[in-house]
Amino acid sequence: MTTQFSVEGIELELTRYPKNQESNLQAWDAADEHLIKHLKETEQVPVATAIINDNFGALTACLRSMEPQWPLAVETDAKTSQLGTLQNLENNKLSSDDIQWLNSRENIPGAIELVLMKLPKNLGYFAHQLNRLSQILPEGTQVLIGAKAKSINKSLLELFARNLGPASASLTWKKTRVITCIADGKARELPKENLWSIPDLNLKITNLSNVFASGKLDIGARIMLDNMPKGDFKSIIDLGCGNGVLGLNAKQLFPQAYIHFVDDSEMAVESARQNWALNKLDTQGLVGEQATFGWDDCLTHLNEGIRPELILCNPPFHQGEAITDHIAWQMFLQSWRALKNGGILHVVGNRHLAYHVKLQRIFKNCTTVASNGKFVILQAQKISKKAEPHETQETSTEAPHPQSSLYGATKQ
Ligand SMILES: C[S@@+](CC[C@H](N)C(=O)[O-])C[C@H]1O[C@@H](n2cnc3c(N)ncnc32)[C@H](O)[C@@H]1O
Repeated sequence: MTTQFSVEGIELELTRYPKNQESNLQAWDAADEHLIKHLKETEQVPVATAIINDNFGALTACLRSMEPQWPLAVETDAKTSQLGTLQNLENNKLSSDDIQWLNSRENIPGAIELVLMKLPKNLGYFAHQLNRLSQILPEGTQVLIGAKAKSINKSLLELFARNLGPASASLTWKKTRVITCIADGKARELPKENLWSIPDLNLKITNLSNVFASGKLDIGARIMLDNMPKGDFKSIIDLGCGNGVLGLNAKQLFPQAYIHFVDDSEMAVESARQNWALNKLDTQGLVGEQATFGWDDCLTHLNEGIRPELILCNPPFHQGEAITDHIAWQMFLQSWRALKNGGILHVVGNRHLAYHVKLQRIFKNCTTVASNGKFVILQAQKISKKAEPHETQETSTEAPHPQSSLYGATKQ
């Protein structure tokens, strides 16, 4: 995997986030290079610019390297993108001081004169992003979108026209194109709330546009809900919560529990928060907040006061467009560290992902709770030497370090 970015005289060292994932994936792609080439060729001057969906900060770092004072607002839904961008700015000794950092629900400042975007995989989310821009950008504002040439077709250009303004695509270079869209100055209405239900659980669910399994229950989550663990749990984490369905059901099953929802997607965290309120899940008589919501890369910044007895997890097996198992590894390792001694990690996954191998390596135990042709529900228990001095050597090994060779192969 190369980390040396070299385009139009700009030389940078760029890594993905987290940096220590063992993968052959780059932190940027040809569409990033194409956008930079386009800016250089059109002799773009450093005007107030919004950068949206910059995966690991390649665009942000390039602009800052072209002009250290380039005024920037950087918007992303993924915490890992924000952390990756900060990491790459720092590693290249570029200042992040006066960058305005925005999540996917915060409006970019009105004074923006240029927008750079990467086309996300989720086109519903992309339409929503254009829609939001239409409410802010004055007529004539230029929005440049870098995308793979194979993703650009008539219906995508129509999506621009419907949501922001007319668009045209450049010639193909390295199998990518730059789309130029000119805001027409007409504010579009934001999409209506997406409300659906899970009748057998008596749950109402809403989800924002970039949330996993939009408008329906994921089949992995369904199997998890049919096989929830038994016990007397008081502190539970819904790790990679999406719309929060697992944590919401956990609160129904264990009313005395405090639930911590966490996800890399800010829209997911906000959806879980909205669903908690919508379903009125607070239990009478419990002291303090009964649910907390974290926008984070797995459990990296988990409040030290949270020591769960149960972690529920339906791990992702891709990061953006890349298929990877490093997030599952990270989730399992950080779960091991966060759990109370004796606590349980309850996982659902596609059978072929063989999560039992990882859990066995980390926890030294793993039980199959349920399975069908496609999915398997696995449970691993934290048994630690320090808290349980009578444990055998076999069960007392410390969890392996995330940088260890445990990480599996990845592909794009
Ligand atoms: C398979 S979905 C499960 C969603 C939900 N728990 C369910 O069962 O429907 C995986 C979730 O993990 C989240 N995710 C991906 N990378 C993450 C990371 N580094 N840290 C935290 N969450 C992450 C995704 O945004 C997504 O919501």
